[in-house]
Amino acid sequence: MANGLRKGLTSYGDAGFSLFLRKAFIKAMGYSDDALDRPIVGVTNTYSDYNPCHGNVPQIIEAVKRGVMLAGAMPMVFPTISIHESFAHPTSMFLRNLMAMDTEEMIRAQPMDAIVVIGGCDKTLPAQIMAAASVDLPTVVIPVGPMVVGHHKGEVLGACTDCRRLWSAHRAGEIDAEEIEIVNSRLAPSVGTCMVMGTASTMACITEVLGLSLPMSATIPAPHAERFRLAEASGRRAAEMAVNGGPTPSELLTPAAFRNAAVVMQSIGGSTNGIIHLTAIANRTPHGFDLDVLDEIGSKVPVLIDLKPSGAHYMEHFHHAGGMPKLLAELGDLIDGDAQTITGKTLGEIAADAEIVPGQDVIRPRDNPIKAEGSMAVLYGNLAPRGAIIKRSAATPRLLQHTGRAVVFQSVEDMAARIDDPDLDVTADDVLVLLNTGPKGAPGMPEAGYLPIPKKLGRQGVKDMVRISDARMSGTAFGTIVLHITPESAVGGPLGLVQSGDMICLDVAGRSINLMIDDAEFERRRAAQPVVLPVEANLPARGYARLFQQTVTQADAGCDFDFMLANRDSASAK
Ligand code: FES
Repeated sequence: MANGLRKGLTSYGDAGFSLFLRKAFIKAMGYSDDALDRPIVGVTNTYSDYNPCHGNVPQIIEAVKRGVMLAGAMPMVFPTISIHESFAHPTSMFLRNLMAMDTEEMIRAQPMDAIVVIGGCDKTLPAQIMAAASVDLPTVVIPVGPMVVGHHKGEVLGACTDCRRLWSAHRAGEIDAEEIEIVNSRLAPSVGTCMVMGTASTMACITEVLGLSLPMSATIPAPHAERFRLAEASGRRAAEMAVNGGPTPSELLTPAAFRNAAVVMQSIGGSTNGIIHLTAIANRTPHGFDLDVLDEIGSKVPVLIDLKPSGAHYMEHFHHAGGMPKLLAELGDLIDGDAQTITGKTLGEIAADAEIVPGQDVIRPRDNPIKAEGSMAVLYGNLAPRGAIIKRSAATPRLLQHTGRAVVFQSVEDMAARIDDPDLDVTADDVLVLLNTGPKGAPGMPEAGYLPIPKKLGRQGVKDMVRISDARMSGTAFGTIVLHITPESAVGGPLGLVQSGDMICLDVAGRSINLMIDDAEFERRRAAQPVVLPVEANLPARGYARLFQQTVTQADAGCDFDFMLANRDSASAK
């Protein structure tokens, strides 16, 4: 098979001419024949003025290039889509699959023997790993790293668990307009990803346990010199992989690796979004990902990392306590230590090398966990025949068993219009229900599952209520919140049958979420649903929105496009 510049020649019907032409053009950049004869390491550039989380990407790229060249190969940087959470309309999840396709096709289209993908803000690492799994070229992943923490009035704070907490305090009248503006300038004090255990941190940890990045890559703060040394080492390793032809993603992304990822997700108090992304990555391989396995692991694996929103600390503290290798060491036999990594070492060998940090209390031993059980549970019931997720480690314990009256909002717009209405008929014991916010319904499954506490209840000191939806929630959020109800209401899922005043029973110990109406009433409401659902009748006329609406899968298949899955016959791909 051809390597380097000879790979994937543009089709002119004459291979010799194709190479001649390619070299003629690339020489316009000043490259020598010696440089062009080297193995090529592609490097994705996801820097964007719209993506402050990726603000250190130019410096990471320089370090990667240095590493690649020190190892005798040729780095070639190319741009791909970049997505930031706060700058993506209607929601970043709508664009994740577009970024995955862009990344995959540009890796396939351009000559390279290995690839370094640099990402971090929530959807970017999943998109890049989905692409890498499909292309199956030797891949090194570099997360951009977490922000450092901010401070306000002697309190340590950060994006964006504290964004939500302090905004709620502002809504409740506890923080005035002037102070909330000061807080606004202190929540994100550096480039890098949110420094709590949100989706970005969760996916960086998952990337490391999947063996796709170098040890400590998940936790080194974005501005630290160590991050750039890691980038240099990643470039060097990618150059070696370009020469060796491996390891490839398919050699690393095994069933054992995905199980290890589920163990880590539970033990870090990971973001619920991580489940969707891990499912999407696994569905790009023949192995898939089973929600029931995640739940079963959750009953055996404790939460060991003391990070917000489940705990008290931030990513830099996790890093200084020993990072992922130390967590793997504490997890011990809960992890399959034989799983391979890009380093050539197994996970077990990496855990054995973990730094011992005297007195640290961020990474707990198994006999002194933050929570005895894993962070996430999978629920089923007449409201969620194909499953729903709750992050119990970030919930109010007394609400994990709760029956309450439904207060239904038909859409995000309906909720925004009515949630703070002083005349809204709602009490703290009610269950807030949000419809039409799933993959097709919104579309793009926005992070709307964290319904705000109605202002009038917030002012009475209510901090949490049971809230249920087919939406997602930011990994930085907290509360007793049931998410990803599948199938979603917009495609006829039973969540759409709930009416205000119905009783809903949440039983996390029993793993159930049920609408308390009898079967006859259930069927009567189902029969009254329109034959052609609004989401089908109002299909976008053109473009990516149409492709998305027609082919996006439900949450239990990872919300990837149905035609991108490795196993397209999978029942859950519907
Ligand atoms: Fe980029 Fe949180 S907004 S990681």
